[in-house]
Amino acid sequence: MSTDKGTLTEAEGTAAAAGNKATERFRESGKTAAVQSSKERVNQLASRLIKAVNDVVLEERVSYEEYNALKAWLIKVGEDGEWPLFLDVWVEHSVEEVANAHRKGNKGTIEGPYYVPGSPEHQSPATIDMREDEPGAPLLFQGQVTGTEGKALAGAKIEVWHADDLGFYSQFAPGLPEWNLRGSFIADAEGRFEINTKRPAPYQIPTDGACGQLIHAAGWHAWRPAHIHLKVSAPGHELLTAQLYFPGDPHNADDIASAVKPELMLDVQPAESGTGLQTTYNFVLDEEA
Ligand code: DHB
Ligand code: FE
Repeated sequence: MSTDKGTLTEAEGTAAAAGNKATERFRESGKTAAVQSSKERVNQLASRLIKAVNDVVLEERVSYEEYNALKAWLIKVGEDGEWPLFLDVWVEHSVEEVANAHRKGNKGTIEGPYYVPGSPEHQSPATIDMREDEPGAPLLFQGQVTGTEGKALAGAKIEVWHADDLGFYSQFAPGLPEWNLRGSFIADAEGRFEINTKRPAPYQIPTDGACGQLIHAAGWHAWRPAHIHLKVSAPGHELLTAQLYFPGDPHNADDIASAVKPELMLDVQPAESGTGLQTTYNFVLDEEA
């Protein structure tokens, strides 16, 4: 293993390095700026959460040894910067369910900890930024963005980010170009887009951090099925945050982040060009209320 930070390969990254970057990105995101909770609401949520924890202690007859193991583990989650990972894997799916229950158009799913705003913008058709020798099967990802009444959304924006063929994300694993496999694509006048990328590999939660420790200790697995993350937007329409999945992935049925939905499964075919794969997925955005 290399000890020079500047020459680490992507597989030599640590959970703490990825986790601390995710924590830093969350702090920079401005996502907490809009929180204005009343005392009543904070009291209701905090009281119920504390009661739920106490109920587990009493019902499961939790010992001091177990209590102290929990305390040590929670401290390590913070030290490893893994709160974004922990929350996005085990809690975000329920928040997303509440937030998007009203949608008539596309189903959404979790954003996860690895979104970075401001990726390089391209007019469709285009190729996502990748290394010259980027490994993996070429994937042509195409489709159309419409409103719920079927109106084509000219100039819709499709932001894409995904793991590479080893399951790592740029800006969170070392040794990858800054915007590798991240891009923003502007659809044509009919809302159509064509994006050339590579098929991502399944993603494994880092095994050497606090979350990995829990997964190991509980005898769970650490896998998310292969997925493409997206944010699709158009003026006058609600932003859609989603992920698309690949049929046949062994972890579609037991995603550790509980974020797979049948409506988000791609239909992947051999490419008409003769090299690699192609898939078509059409997005339906809800009109803004
Ligand atoms: C995590 C990583 C992902 O790529 C994702 O989509 C969701 C969660 C995580 O490590 O927490
Ligand atoms: Fe992901």
